[in-house]
Amino acid sequence: MVEIPRTGKTPSRILVGDVLGRLPELLPEGRRTVVITDPNLMQHYGEPISRFEHIVIPTGEEHKTLDTIAEIYRRLIELGADRKTFIVGFGGGIVTDITGFAASTYMRGVDFGFVATSLLAQVDASVGGKNGVNVGGYKNMAGVFNQPDFVLCDTDTLQTLPPREFRAGLAEMIKAAIIADPALFRIFESHSPEDLLADKALLTKAITSAIRVKAHIVEADEREAGERRKLNLGHTLAHAIEKLTREFNHGEAVAIGLVQIAEISTKMGLLAPTQKDRIVRALQKAGLPTRTDLPKAQLLQALTHDKKVEQDKLWLILPVAIGDVILKETPLNEVSWD
Ligand SMILES: NC(=O)c1ccc[n+]([C@@H]2O[C@H](COP(=O)([O-])OP(=O)(O)OC[C@H]3O[C@@H](n4cnc5c(N)ncnc54)[C@H](O)[C@@H]3O)[C@@H](O)[C@H]2O)c1
Ligand SMILES: [Zn+2]
Repeated sequence: MVEIPRTGKTPSRILVGDVLGRLPELLPEGRRTVVITDPNLMQHYGEPISRFEHIVIPTGEEHKTLDTIAEIYRRLIELGADRKTFIVGFGGGIVTDITGFAASTYMRGVDFGFVATSLLAQVDASVGGKNGVNVGGYKNMAGVFNQPDFVLCDTDTLQTLPPREFRAGLAEMIKAAIIADPALFRIFESHSPEDLLADKALLTKAITSAIRVKAHIVEADEREAGERRKLNLGHTLAHAIEKLTREFNHGEAVAIGLVQIAEISTKMGLLAPTQKDRIVRALQKAGLPTRTDLPKAQLLQALTHDKKVEQDKLWLILPVAIGDVILKETPLNEVSWD
């Protein structure tokens, strides 16, 4: 179990492994529970979800909007949900982001928890208390910081996750390993996605380690002043890639961004070429892309339109070893990769 402290409340608890069966005991006794989920989860986990009153929201980033939040409020009112109602977000990162926001604002905030069912939701989206929705096509423009009472990360639910989504989650785990956990990194050097899915104990260990990396950083920097920026390793370039093409999902863009930032760091003399090669190989073993044909000039242009650019310099998170990164203001003319 990983615990994240909350001011004025008991810590937020994250449980990993064979844990779905523990949902009933985590729910506050004698209080009504409403589950928020999506149609894919209903298809695979109709039982246990149907045991509870539930609200099904559409899948897809285009529905992560204030309209969906308003629809949830309407349904909660219809169901007669009050301040004592407990809300469970049962799904991937879209469901958990939306649930966190809806629960934090319905009647000025009700208690909530998550059953995180995608690998990305388990190691990233459901950890750290950020939630929210997109506005006018801009990602996560409205939201609040608020930690759930609990997060259940059941490894069995990952068996029904589409393989491409599983690999996308691995990209964020490899990112976490490069930031702060060399032992976690070694797991990815010696185990394929199939190996991980076949070994529950190993998968539980790897997910727990990745959550710990994020939890430690979030604890040190709950409101995103400094440390938390480390979690954006590989993301500046990933966002540029995502701006230019729909070819890659977020995790795939992160994988390419990780390789590019490792190459930049190597060219700056901050990361040994052997370490950079290990990063490339681990991502390849995870079945992730490590290159894009997008012209460098276009990527750099997309980068410089990013809000993090100050004149001709860029704040970059640079890997200096597997397990260590630094924040460094870098002149644009040093931003180059192979
Ligand atoms: N709050 C944060 O700190 C944070 C961090 C990272 C990402 N996010 C957000 O997370 C979202 C992406 O999350 P995601 O990748 O989980 O997307 P998602 O919720 O869309 O899930 C991906 C797909 O997998 C399906 N799915 C999920 N679990 C399943 C399972 N066990 N079996 C079968 N199908 C399953 C979903 O229905 C969906 O089609 C983005 O909106 C992103 O902004 C938030
Ligand atoms: Zn990410």
